[in-house]
Amino acid sequence: MDGPPRLEVDSIKVNYGAAPALWDVSLSVQPGELVCVVGPNGAGKSTLIDVVAGLHRARAGRLRFNGQDITQLASHRFCAAGIAIVPKGRRLFTGMTVLENLELGSDLPHAKSQRAASLEQVLALFPALQQKLPHAAGSLSGGQQQMVAIARALMSRPQLLLLDEPSLGLAPTVVLDMFAAIRAINAGGTSVLLVEQNVAMAMELANRAYVMEEGRIVAQGLASELMGRPEIRKAYLGLEPA
Ligand SMILES: Nc1ncnc2c1ncn2[C@@H]1O[C@H](COP(=O)(O)OP(=O)(O)OP(=O)(O)O)[C@@H](O)[C@H]1O
Ligand SMILES: [Mg+2]
Repeated sequence: MDGPPRLEVDSIKVNYGAAPALWDVSLSVQPGELVCVVGPNGAGKSTLIDVVAGLHRARAGRLRFNGQDITQLASHRFCAAGIAIVPKGRRLFTGMTVLENLELGSDLPHAKSQRAASLEQVLALFPALQQKLPHAAGSLSGGQQQMVAIARALMSRPQLLLLDEPSLGLAPTVVLDMFAAIRAINAGGTSVLLVEQNVAMAMELANRAYVMEEGRIVAQGLASELMGRPEIRKAYLGLEPA
């Protein structure tokens, strides 16, 4: 993989008031890579992904995207820069229709001009949404709402898609569909940074992984390598030896 990493997070520090949430976190995502971040509750995974989405400011450290320093970029410009987030809990406009939610995702100029093509692409990815377009987003099942949330993010035509626990609260069969969709999105060329509690499945999907604990990265490497290390499986991933 030549050229600059798509995303470079360099020694990020974040506090909530006096409480440190991220100590000194560095990670990268190469163009086309699918990278996952795993770790226990409160490890700082959402805080990290929110910083990358521009939703939260780091108090120290740098963010680079496609070689450009975006550390000081205004929050509302991250989307135009090519970074889209599917936040935990989806945050759909439940009273608006599915189509209206999707259109909101493509409100920026670069995405608006390609709205029809984007809509066609997300409906090809999630065919079940086709007949739901005129329905209120809040009337859909949890799995379908998660599809809308991902589709809405894709409507902005991101180069990097950030996903915070997309499988949370979904039935096991729906989770399989969700992971298949994430794999397809990545296969289409979109880089993905995925936060998941569903460690085994996320690690299977990912090229590389970072393990976080108490605001620090405590292990990193090829997902397959990390899954093969008994001490990592036991201490951080809550898995039995392979
Ligand atoms: N808005 C906030 N104000 C104060 N503390 C916060 C806030 N958000 C998160 N924290 C704290 O920061 C730490 C990291 O939280 P974060 O939500 O990033 O962890 P996480 O790994 O995403 O956890 P989870 O698996 O529960 O989603 C935790 O100790 C949490 O209590
Ligand atoms: Mg979280």
